Amino acid sequence: MKQPSTEWLERIAPDEEAHFARVAKVIARLQQTRSAKFGTGRALHRKQLFAATGTLEVLPNLPPHARHGLFAAPGRHRALVRLSNGGPDVQSNKRPDIRGFAVKVLDVSGESALGGTTDHQDFLMINQNHFASADSREFVDFIEALAGGPLPAILHLFKTHGIGGGFARFRELIAALGKKFNGFAAERFNVVLPIRCGPYAVRVRLKPAGSPPPVARSRDIVEDMRQRLAVGPLHWDLELQFLVDEATTPIEDASKVWPDAETPIVTVARLTLPQQGGDAASTEAEAAKFDPWGGLAAHRPLGEVMRARKVAYYESQKGRGV
Ligand code: HEM
Repeated sequence: MKQPSTEWLERIAPDEEAHFARVAKVIARLQQTRSAKFGTGRALHRKQLFAATGTLEVLPNLPPHARHGLFAAPGRHRALVRLSNGGPDVQSNKRPDIRGFAVKVLDVSGESALGGTTDHQDFLMINQNHFASADSREFVDFIEALAGGPLPAILHLFKTHGIGGGFARFRELIAALGKKFNGFAAERFNVVLPIRCGPYAVRVRLKPAGSPPPVARSRDIVEDMRQRLAVGPLHWDLELQFLVDEATTPIEDASKVWPDAETPIVTVARLTLPQQGGDAASTEAEAAKFDPWGGLAAHRPLGEVMRARKVAYYESQKGRGV
C-alpha cells in the first residue's frame, strides 16, 4: 500500500478558455432542445427520481491526512439528497442510464472554492468508477451530437473513431449505461474525479452500510427506495481514496480507475436517511443547485474535467432560472 501524497499537479492546456466557451454553448443548446420538449429543467440528470433529507455524521479520530475541510472536526450536518437518471431526457427508469446520487451537506462554514464563504459542501456521484474519457473534449463532442437525438450521437462515434473504434466506443457506452443496477440503497457511487482534501487529493465514494439487502426489493428503482425507507433508515459510508502518485492515481486522466489495492482509503463520515414516507424533499431538491464547485476551498475540484464542469453547471443553472 502506497502513502497519501501532497505532490500532485494540474495541467492547463493553452486553448482551455476557448474550449470552455464551447462547453457553455453545447450545454445551453442541449438544455434548450430538451426544455422545449419536457419543460424547464437540468441539461443533464434532468429526471429526479427521489429526494430526501438526512444527516451526514463526520466520524471522530480520523487520521491527520483526512482531517481537512468538512472532515476537520467530528459532528452532524443536515444533508439534502437528490437521486436522478443521468440523461437529458425524461424517460422510463427501465431504460439504461447512468444513475446520479447528489448530496448537499449543510451547516458548513468556511472559505468557498469559488471565492467568498460557503455554508455547504456538495458531492455529485454516479454509479461508475471512472469517467467515459480522459478529458472533457470527447464527452462534450458527444453531448453536442446528442442535442440532435440518439442517432446523431451514435453516428458521431463512428465519424470520430472510424468503424472499428466507433464500435468499441459504442460497446463501452452501452456497457456503462447498461451496467446492472441493484438500486440506490445497494450500489456504490463515486465522485469519480479528484478534489482537494487540504494539501492532499482524493476521490470521494459512497458505500452502502448497515447491510441493506443486496438486490432491489422492488424492480422499480424509485419504489425500492420508498419501500425501504418506509420500514427503516438507510446508511452509507463516505470514503476518501487518496492520491498516491501520478502514475497510479492521475489527476488529469479521468478515464482511469484509481486501484483500491494501492491506495489508502479512509471512511470519514456516515450518511443516514431516516425512516420516512413519501418524497417530502422533492421540491427543495429539484430547485437546489448541486454543483461540484459548490463547497469549500479545502475541497476544491481538481483537473480539466472539473474545470469544464464549472462552466457547464453554471450554464445549466442559468438555463433553469436558479
Ligand atoms: C465534462 C463533464 C460533465 C459535464 C459537462 C456535466 C454536466 C452536467 C450538467 C449540465 C448537469 C445539470 C446541472 C444543473 O442544472 O443542476 C449535471 C448534473 C449532474 N452531474 Fe454532471 N457533468 C459532467 C461530468 C460529471 C461527472 C464526472 C459526474 C460524476 C459524479 C457527474 C455527475 C452529475 C450528477 C450527479 C448530476 C445531478 C446533480 C443534481 O442532482 O442536481 N457529472 N452534469
